[in-house]
Amino acid sequence: MGDVLFEHADVLLERQDTIARLRLRRKSALNALSSAFFDTLDAAIDALDAAEGVRAVILMSDVPKAFIAGADISEMKGKTAAEMETYARRGQRFMARIEQHPAIWVAAVNGYCLGGGFEVALSCDLIAAGPRATFAFPEIGLGLLPGFGGTQRFTRSAGMHAGLRYILTGERFGADTATALGLVWIAPGEDEDFDEVVGGAVEKAFGNVASVAAREVKRVVRAATWLSLEDGCDAEAAAFGAIGNSADAVEGLTAFLEKRKPEFRGN
Ligand code: CAA
Repeated sequence: MGDVLFEHADVLLERQDTIARLRLRRKSALNALSSAFFDTLDAAIDALDAAEGVRAVILMSDVPKAFIAGADISEMKGKTAAEMETYARRGQRFMARIEQHPAIWVAAVNGYCLGGGFEVALSCDLIAAGPRATFAFPEIGLGLLPGFGGTQRFTRSAGMHAGLRYILTGERFGADTATALGLVWIAPGEDEDFDEVVGGAVEKAFGNVASVAAREVKRVVRAATWLSLEDGCDAEAAAFGAIGNSADAVEGLTAFLEKRKPEFRGN
């Protein structure tokens, strides 16, 4: 257990050195994303932003059965068309906040990851999928469609026919299929401690990451899904210039030439 940065009945945010863990624990509704829960999550991210030096965030669930079971169905019932659109935009703002966050976000999924929950995972930069991970877009069965960016982010990651297949059918799939679709970073097996393996992998990969460069990688790689090749390469060159003389880049280049490991400070 690290330093607690934010605590609420539904969410715990703690930090150990450069890694934070955002633990979801809205157990009564399997972490379903109500407007109030979005507000709590935003408050947790405000607390994260006030703490300096966090390089990666593990978004995980303390509810054994579920990562997130989707948008809150009880809240959606009875909404007008305009209210439904507002709710979709509320969710989309949250997804964009994760996507545009300066730290690297890793979704640690080992349970139901449905609808809005899948959209949260897709907003993260990397997905770890455990043996109990169950992904799906069940919205079609509710007479709806994914409204928190899923039609766009899933299709950009997995391709058009995968998008049509999984969003039209609501078909469930596990870590193997998610891996085959290219969505998954690591997939710990049955005999491993999921949280421990994910924590160790994040620490190893990102505990000392050059975070200025990582932030630009997030931005430019995502932009590759909508920019032309020419505009994308232009954005890449500008990013290369913007960070090419940063303290971390100077340290990285110097450390290589001095045949030692770099010590990045995140600036
Ligand atoms: N919203 C609100 N409450 C939810 C919920 C959700 N998405 N998912 C589960 N819950 C609640 C259940 O109502 C239940 O509450 P009570 O104990 O008060 O009855 C509690 O969580 C436990 O759920 P179950 O008893 O159903 O647990 P289970 O193990 O039998 O089933 C499940 C688990 C398969 C995840 C099932 O709960 C389920 O199908 N949930 C809904 C999944 C879904 O359709 N998600 C998509 C929502 S739409 C969306 O996300 C749209 C969007 O993009 C904007």
